[in-house]
Amino acid sequence: MTDAMACAADKAGLSLLVLNGPNLNLLGKRNPEIYGVLTLEQLEAELAEYAHTSYPSIGELDFAQSNHEGTLIDVLHLAHLEFDGIVFNPAAYTHYSYALRDAIEVIDVPVVEVHLSNVDVREDFRSVSVVREVCIAHFYGDGIQSYKDAIAYLAEGATE
Ligand code: DQA
Repeated sequence: MTDAMACAADKAGLSLLVLNGPNLNLLGKRNPEIYGVLTLEQLEAELAEYAHTSYPSIGELDFAQSNHEGTLIDVLHLAHLEFDGIVFNPAAYTHYSYALRDAIEVIDVPVVEVHLSNVDVREDFRSVSVVREVCIAHFYGDGIQSYKDAIAYLAEGATE
């Protein structure tokens, strides 16, 4: 259990953030054969339902999405004020943003990397993740289930 998680155990419930990066606002329209047919709004609604029915320890599940690297960094910097864990799909920034990598490394809040698609079997550049080593776990290639696995990982870690 990390310090952030230990702190969460003392509060009314675990507070988690699902953070999505660039172009994920276009889910549902964007390459549905790769990313599925759910819109971002539908994906978030299904995750909220999953979290609240499967993990009563989760008191709050919030969502944010940005197409801007600096905004994502600002959200990460402020996360300790509100969140005990972050499920993060940095989208294309995964493959080259050392600025996001450094932000994840410096914050005290545990971050789990997720991707809808299997980044290992697509273009070569997608198999590189510059954020992976500063995240506590990663789940990918399973559509929305990758996000659910990340939520479960954080929720179960917090109750150990
Ligand atoms: C993605 C994979 C990235 O390579 C891509 O740039 C995305 C989405 C995924 O969820 O599969 O935008 O992160």
